[in-house]
Amino acid sequence: MYEIVGKEQLAPVTTLLRVSAPEVARKAQAGQFVILIAIESGERIPLTLGDWDREKGTVDLVFQQVGKTTALLATFEPGDSLYALTGPLGRPSEIQHYGTVACVGGGVGIAAVYPIARALRSAGNKVHTIMGCRSKDLIFWEEKMAALSDEPLVCTDDGSYKRKALVTEPLAELLERERVARVWAVGPAIMMKFSALTCKRYETPVIVSLNSIMVDGTGMCGACRVEIGGETRFACVDGPEFDGHLVNWDLLLEKQRLYLDSERLALERFREQQCACGSRKEGAHEAA
Ligand SMILES: Cc1cc2nc3c(=O)[nH]c(=O)nc-3n(C[C@H](O)[C@H](O)[C@H](O)COP(=O)(O)OP(=O)(O)OC[C@H]3O[C@@H](n4cnc5c(N)ncnc54)[C@H](O)[C@@H]3O)c2cc1C
Ligand code: FES
Repeated sequence: MYEIVGKEQLAPVTTLLRVSAPEVARKAQAGQFVILIAIESGERIPLTLGDWDREKGTVDLVFQQVGKTTALLATFEPGDSLYALTGPLGRPSEIQHYGTVACVGGGVGIAAVYPIARALRSAGNKVHTIMGCRSKDLIFWEEKMAALSDEPLVCTDDGSYKRKALVTEPLAELLERERVARVWAVGPAIMMKFSALTCKRYETPVIVSLNSIMVDGTGMCGACRVEIGGETRFACVDGPEFDGHLVNWDLLLEKQRLYLDSERLALERFREQQCACGSRKEGAHEAA
């Protein structure tokens, strides 16, 4: 069992859970993820490691409530425990001294790109950060990101905070202005696709982090298949980071849409059962 030792509501639908997991914290590296099971009868879900503290033995998981399991997770409080947590999984980011780099985070992808930006900074790179969210209330970790960045940029789709733009706009301006050795773009697939296309115009290498559907996270089940440069790769063991110019984005986006209806139904059922019994934990657990 993995105890929750801290909780923070970063945005109306974005929650941080600090989990006691000393083994995971000890080995964690930028770009890696964990697979957790919230309750015994629950499903396995992958979440990126947003942060960790090796001395305290804790890891920070940041998630957006999009479906049944993340809605259930949001009901967990300090003192509760996760049933299981496996990790760290996936290949770590390739951190080197590249010179000037840019880290682009979209939505909850900000949490995933943060440790990458930190590691790149520690390796002596000049780091530009670009954060984008739909609106002001969804922005989080602005200060944490700014502390790593030589030029922090924040934009919102609706213009409710800082610059009104999609992340690709300031990215294109940056690439036009100076030579950037490598870009990391992490966020929704559509944002990563367009960030990759932007980088292509400037012949800049771009690394994206593919959060495809995962089951076992060990390369055995084949659920996380992605097409990279015309070849099949497994996001859990070959990734999650890949060359953004080689990803078959249309296939990935199509695969992500496949499960939308069943996810919506599961969430509706979870909410109905939670309301019907009026109890936070019992209702949540029955529905999961
Ligand atoms: C590596 C990785 C790790 C992840 N880890 C987690 C996790 O730990 N926890 C979790 O809950 N989820 C995780 N996700 C899920 C992922 O971020 C989801 O897609 C998320 O729910 C989307 O966030 P959002 O709804 O805020 O995005 P949106 O608000 O729809 O988009 C965010 C930003 O992306 C940009 N953008 C969007 N569309 C475009 C476009 N067409 N062109 C250019 N820019 C665009 C905009 O600047 C926008 O503000 C992860 C995803 C990835 C890729
Ligand atoms: S999640 Fe099963 S092979 Fe990757």
